Amino acid sequence: MNAPVNLDGLEVGFDVPALPGMDEADIQTPCLVLDLDALERNIMKMGDYAKAHGMHLRVHGKMHKSVDIAKLQERIGGAVGVCCQKSSEAEVFVRGGIKDVLVSNQVCDPVKIDRLAQLPKLGARVIVCVDDAINVADLSAAVSRHGTQLEVLVEIDCGQNRCGVTTPAEVISLAKDIDAASGLKFSGIQAYLGSAQHIDSYAARKEKLDAAIAQVKEIVSALGAAGLAPDIVTGGGTGSYNFESNSGVYTELQCGSYAFMDADYGRIKDQDGHRFDAGEWDYACFILTQVMSHVKADRAVVDAGLKVQSVDSGLPVVHRPRRCGVHQLFR
Ligand SMILES: Cc1ncc(COP(=O)(O)O)c(C=O)c1O
Repeated sequence: MNAPVNLDGLEVGFDVPALPGMDEADIQTPCLVLDLDALERNIMKMGDYAKAHGMHLRVHGKMHKSVDIAKLQERIGGAVGVCCQKSSEAEVFVRGGIKDVLVSNQVCDPVKIDRLAQLPKLGARVIVCVDDAINVADLSAAVSRHGTQLEVLVEIDCGQNRCGVTTPAEVISLAKDIDAASGLKFSGIQAYLGSAQHIDSYAARKEKLDAAIAQVKEIVSALGAAGLAPDIVTGGGTGSYNFESNSGVYTELQCGSYAFMDADYGRIKDQDGHRFDAGEWDYACFILTQVMSHVKADRAVVDAGLKVQSVDSGLPVVHRPRRCGVHQLFR
């Protein structure tokens, strides 16, 4: 590869570690590498699955935080829109051309509420979650100031003991507050059980999801009886989407990790006891790294240190060792 010469007379051009289509041998390590074929296979597979099950797929953008990948998920993976976790992410997606964005979280800070309330001016449908009446009032005040409208979902705590209300009475009360608030529309509920996603055993995951689905059914039926039938019942991730899709009550999936896949999801089992990485999803995101020292017989030191990888789900797993280097999985 010919490197251009910069003004100081130093050769540059290798400061971009990789470009699409570049030969692996030319990539400067450590480098985050995306296998575009695997990514597209995953995206299309989840899109097909959602379509076959009559579900909307609102892909979670927290995993990639990329407008380009979100657009690919819309274009070839049937995604109806994107989820994200905060106002600043919603801004990037909307500015980038995503027209339907759910902040699958609470937004409570006044500045962040104000930023969110302005986004519909850019022509996007913007949805946000609430679990608190004061937050409803704050959102309403902001959209009234800006002459915009937000759609609002009541978040249900369906077993994670994190955000969200739990009883039908609490949900109905918030739904009524939303409906009565100027500039807000009650559009439904979010019930995402994050704590069950990575449970290894299918039966143990199913038990948690069965309980969550029973709770969601009770709440949806109470909302219907109160004249507040939800348009959207959203939730589900890579570890649980099959349960929500077959529940008869969810309308929308929020899967994110399936697109890149990761080693932690690779370990969990499907209904037949097969690991998720044995066919369900392809690994698409890797750290390409190489051994920089192996003077000790039992040790190979690579050039991807702790700062290069996330270790919140454990150390990375070696994916494809080769004589000239070592490929590591992201996570
Ligand atoms: C609210 C919410 N929905 C959906 C997801 C996507 O789940 P996954 O990446 O496991 O598919 C997440 C991920 O943490 C989430 O927080």
